[in-house]
Amino acid sequence: MTIAPADRAAWYPAAPSSAVTEGHATPTVLLGEGVALFRTDGVAAATGADRRALAVTERYDHVWVCPGTPDRALFAIPEAAMPGRRAVPCGSIHVRCSPLRAVENFLDIAHFPFIHTGILGEEPHTEVNRYDVRIDDDLDEVWARNITFHQPQASVSAEGALDVRYEYRVPAPTTAILYKTCPARPAEWDVIAIFVQPVSEETCIAHPWMTMFDDATPHADMVAFQQTIFLQDRSILENQIPARLPLDPGMEVPTQADLTSIAYRRWLKRRGHAHGAQLVAA
Ligand SMILES: [Fe+2]
Repeated sequence: MTIAPADRAAWYPAAPSSAVTEGHATPTVLLGEGVALFRTDGVAAATGADRRALAVTERYDHVWVCPGTPDRALFAIPEAAMPGRRAVPCGSIHVRCSPLRAVENFLDIAHFPFIHTGILGEEPHTEVNRYDVRIDDDLDEVWARNITFHQPQASVSAEGALDVRYEYRVPAPTTAILYKTCPARPAEWDVIAIFVQPVSEETCIAHPWMTMFDDATPHADMVAFQQTIFLQDRSILENQIPARLPLDPGMEVPTQADLTSIAYRRWLKRRGHAHGAQLVAA
């Protein structure tokens, strides 16, 4: 399989940090190619199928690998360094879907009342407000801002329903970050990211990760909350048609909720990403 230069030059999550230990190799797969992860004197490293050393960086409780020559540094999540926050890696979920489909689903608010009923949404509060979405040319990222949505149970720590404010950010082809009203500190954001490992064009591993102001909720409860959400998404993701994400706009009239997805697809196409994408209309 030929891998597009832009796909080779990107950073991908390859494992949670906790899965890469001293003394033995952890095998995994990126873009259909075998990768071995190691840790030597605390430092993570990786080799490709041909035993070539790969570029590695370790941040946000994950080991990140670039299969080729990185064209930029790994994106920053400045909130991660903010005092008082707690980083919460939420496990790894294998999904039989395109890695790009997993990101697209994470960006879609309209499905909340129907798929995450009673948690992230509920009828009749199904309307998505007018919000701002654009490709930020300086950052070379997709941003959606000024989204508000009615949520019955926005997070483990939320007491009752809230009108939640959202911002979405796509800083890398298979990573999306959600900034969401922090119930405990309304001036701050809870940060919920999905780091998607592209195993093949139609399989991936989602590594949800959060940094939040919440000292009280046990780690296991936070992980269980995110796993509940992601398992609700899985059946949808595994039945998408077409399986790969089409990058060319279709004939349908987009709704307000689709605007982030459209910007994401446009941005992927502009950057030349192809892995997990359907480039020609079926
Ligand atoms: Fe969902």
